[in-house]
Amino acid sequence: MKSIKEMDAPIGLAFFFGPALIIVIVLLINGFNTISAIMALLLILCGLKYMHTSIIGKYKIMEIIVDNTQLKSNSKILDAGCGHGAFMLQFNKKTASISEIVGIDIWSNKDQGNNSIEATQKIMDSSSLAGKVKLKTANILDMPFSNNEFDLIISSLVLHNIKPFEKRKEALAELAKVQKQKGELVIMDIGFETSKYVPVLEHLGYQNVSIANAGYNGWWGTPMVPTFVITASK
Ligand SMILES: C[S@@+](CC[C@H](N)C(=O)[O-])C[C@H]1O[C@@H](n2cnc3c(N)ncnc32)[C@H](O)[C@@H]1O
Repeated sequence: MKSIKEMDAPIGLAFFFGPALIIVIVLLINGFNTISAIMALLLILCGLKYMHTSIIGKYKIMEIIVDNTQLKSNSKILDAGCGHGAFMLQFNKKTASISEIVGIDIWSNKDQGNNSIEATQKIMDSSSLAGKVKLKTANILDMPFSNNEFDLIISSLVLHNIKPFEKRKEALAELAKVQKQKGELVIMDIGFETSKYVPVLEHLGYQNVSIANAGYNGWWGTPMVPTFVITASK
């Protein structure tokens, strides 16, 4: 499991540690109170779980996905919203079957710490995928590729950032457009709304669309914010 120690959506941490800090300050000023102390502890545990998912858990999920993905020889792969290339890097065991991996992103620092094409290029250049990775600045909603270009499309923790939901349907349609016939699609995304991608993908012509909750490794602080994995073939 190859991991990069950069946080996803660092603001998520403030959501848990901010209120915990306020409660601790109030406890220090007003004296000990059991209920408040328990609340602060729970918030800190949720913050630590968020960190675990971002720097360890999501890589475990990706590793299982990659182990279960059969690549055709000379596969061309697209990572839509690659960030630091966490998902691409897990393909380092399968380089012999890969002709090219293209990573696109808008490099938002709100969604991932220290996010830039230069930072990702550096990580890729020092990996076993060096020479096979091509990075581009592009929005999933308007991708600069021909139709039917990619054998495998992967996208992790990206689509929930696209709002409103109607726009996510457009993003899924863009992915379908550049996906080769008989190609495979793997989407990891956050939150229960992910299940709504299933009928959209079926409508776009994907078959065998399946969705699974990735469990403990994908909890963003609590089980109420889980990660789902969708796999589909065209
Ligand atoms: C939480 S990060 C995940 C990055 C990487 N896929 C991973 O799993 O480590 C979300 C990424 O999606 C990118 N992103 C958000 N909206 C996007 C869009 N419309 N088109 C392309 N990339 C987008 C962000 O810039 C960020 O790099």
